[in-house]
Formats: sequence, structure tokens, C-alpha cells
Amino acid sequence: MSSSLAWDERYAGGDFQFGEAPNLYLLSQAHRLRPGTRALAVGDGEGRNGVWLAEQGLDATSVDWSEVGLAKARALAGHRGVALQTVTADLTRWEWPVARFDVIAWIFVHLPPEDRAIACAGALRALAPGGLLLLECFTPAQEGRRSGGPKDPALLWTRALVERHFVGLEVLELLEGTVMLDEGPRHQGAAEVVRAVLRK
Ligand SMILES: C[S@@+](CC[C@H](N)C(=O)[O-])C[C@H]1O[C@@H](n2cnc3c(N)ncnc32)[C@H](O)[C@@H]1O
Repeated sequence: MSSSLAWDERYAGGDFQFGEAPNLYLLSQAHRLRPGTRALAVGDGEGRNGVWLAEQGLDATSVDWSEVGLAKARALAGHRGVALQTVTADLTRWEWPVARFDVIAWIFVHLPPEDRAIACAGALRALAPGGLLLLECFTPAQEGRRSGGPKDPALLWTRALVERHFVGLEVLELLEGTVMLDEGPRHQGAAEVVRAVLRK
């Protein structure tokens, strides 16, 4: 079972578990980002995505329940010379701001079904009108692969789950398939993912 302490332990070493570079799918969406707008990196761990969003000129916030991860995120931001706000919170208990963010990055955040529903409702509320949700997560086809993802299949995402949890958002892109991951020691090799760009 996942817990903030388990993630604190994973993040305790000097290495970045998913690398220091941003997720490649998020990177591929750079053309949609506008400097000066507000971005939230959900479950951002050691901060690679929040820091990259800040480097694109966005006012970036990373939220995660691992304070150890977020301390590394702040250090990475400092090293890169950008400002990053961090919030240490459980996504199921956080008081999500309303209509605050122009971009929400949901990268490899896998929660139990009830928690996922709560966090997705929060993310939906937190998106400003016209705001974008950018998502990449593992699908059930990832079972048996060693390139990352949760062991419990109930935590995996599908295209149908994206449509259900983010109903009402306009689908700009929604794809399932195989990609090659090269993200730190934990995400290496062929992987089965769902990728989405949705607009409020
Ligand atoms: C697989 S890691 C991905 C980290 C980051 N998104 C990335 O791609 O580098 C999943 C992250 O979700 C966070 N997380 C899981 N459940 C959470 C919860 N209920 N509340 C807040 N953060 C959570 C973990 O602490 C971890 O940092």
C-alpha cells in the first residue's frame, strides 16, 4: 500500500527516481504553454515537471504528500534559478483551489479508485476556464512489464477512466499505446500508457 512515508523513503537518496528532466509527453506539449500563466504539477515528487514548467515562464506549484520529495524539488528549482511553490498535501484531503490553474500536469499519479475520484474532482475544480489538463499514466497493459508503475492493477488508468473522471472537458488528444521511457532508474524501457490533453 502506498503512503507518504513509503514515498519519503524512496526519495531519501541523492538520485532522482524519475530523473531531473521533465516527462517527455509534457515536454512535447510546450507549444500549448503561455509564460505568465499558472501551472500545477500534481503528485510531482522530486519536482522535475514543476521545475520545467517554471523554466517555461509559468507560475508553477508542485503538490505532493512527500515532503522529502518536495525538498528535492525546491533544491532543483534553486539550482536551475527558477521559483517553484510547493504544497505538501494528500491529494484526497487537500483543499484544492478553485479555477486557479491554467495548466495541470498529472504525470504518473496512480491512486486507489476512491482516492482517484476525489483527486480528479479536485483537479477539475482547480482548472480555470480554458485551462489544460495534461496527463500520462500507465494502463493495465503495463502489467508484467518492468518499466515502472504500480503493482496493484486497480491503480492503473485507461482511456475510459480519463473520460469518466474528466467528463465535461474537451478532448484535444486521448491515446493509449506503447512508448519508450527513459526517466531515471524507475522508468526505463517500453511502457504502456494513456496520454491526454483536455481543455476546460
Ligand atoms: C510515480 S511518482 C511520480 C512523480 C512525478 N509525477 C514524476 O512523474 O516524476 C507518484 C507521486 O505521487 C505521489 N502521491 C501518491 N499518492 C499521493 C497522494 N494521495 N497525495 C499526494 N501525493 C501522492 C507520490 O508521493 C509520488 O511522488
